[in-house]
Amino acid sequence: MSIPEQYSFSRYLEAKKSVDDRAINLRVWNTLQRALPMAAAQSPLRVLEVGCGTGASLQRLFDWGLLQFADYTALDISRQNIAEAGDQISAWALQSGCRLRTTPDKSELWIVRDEPSELRLHLRLEAIDLSDFIAREQNAHRQGAAGWDFLFAHAFLDLIDLPNLLPSLLQLLRPNGLFYFTINFDGATLFEPTIDPELDELVQRLYHRTMDERLVNGHPSGDSRAGRKLFALLKGAGAPILAAGASDWVVFAGPNGYPGDEAYFLHFIIHTIHQALAGRPELDIRKFEDWVAQRHEQIERQELVYIAHQLDFVGKVGAIET
Ligand SMILES: C[S@@+](CC[C@H](N)C(=O)[O-])C[C@H]1O[C@@H](n2cnc3c(N)ncnc32)[C@H](O)[C@@H]1O
Repeated sequence: MSIPEQYSFSRYLEAKKSVDDRAINLRVWNTLQRALPMAAAQSPLRVLEVGCGTGASLQRLFDWGLLQFADYTALDISRQNIAEAGDQISAWALQSGCRLRTTPDKSELWIVRDEPSELRLHLRLEAIDLSDFIAREQNAHRQGAAGWDFLFAHAFLDLIDLPNLLPSLLQLLRPNGLFYFTINFDGATLFEPTIDPELDELVQRLYHRTMDERLVNGHPSGDSRAGRKLFALLKGAGAPILAAGASDWVVFAGPNGYPGDEAYFLHFIIHTIHQALAGRPELDIRKFEDWVAQRHEQIERQELVYIAHQLDFVGKVGAIET
């Protein structure tokens, strides 16, 4: 591919899917699979996904056989992502041999399949900020609404004010409800081959600082070490971890080049760093622009290797049976 002139976040999320497929920690996944309660068509699992983007991770939960019967709510702050999630999940359902019914705006979907394996999914998609959703749910709980069975966040918790939001987010689960938090960034962005060791290191450090300094509506929103901090934050919130492990992104070109649309994924990552650091006084503009151009060229030559360190967690709120 040639270096993109324009960037699309939804294409990035789609391109990220195959990178995530390789990264998901299978020991954590298997622990979750064993811990999930049985569900049936008449008693579906009540699932809440926060920061769902365009719905790629929901598809994985069904394609890999984790979920079969679910009453699923997925939220994202972006209206555009939610609209695209309606389209993408509709297309996925039809390709997967399911029958599909939707509201005209695709904010609610009913997806049904009998063969080769039964699937019943009632999905509600909502464009809402997580804090607003939590406040509304807390109100509903006070009126007696039941908690969720399963809480899922993928490539999301490193973007929010975790110390403030995590306890109230976990309180939305019913007692013994399960959480599954995947692809939580944890402080390492590595590119090979080296361009200039000092500049490479400075770019990484400053890029991580932009994550730590990110403000949304005046509130801190993001942490470049969210992964490791989750150990203490989950413990403090009374949410024991059943399993945790690395889910690093490792992107490289094999004999047939980069898989799928992963060259685009890499260009998007370099573009994101470029945008995040443009104008930083610590960087020599000319040297940084040259660094960005060289990284894009390395992708074109299928030379660039990218590794990002991340962690996955599964756990249960309340007491764990021994
Ligand atoms: C890196 S993307 C991951 C999307 C999706 N989970 C995936 O991996 O394909 C993070 C998503 O979180 C959403 N987001 C960021 N802040 C949010 C907030 N405060 N409330 C709800 N969604 C938010 C963004 O719009 C974006 O779609």
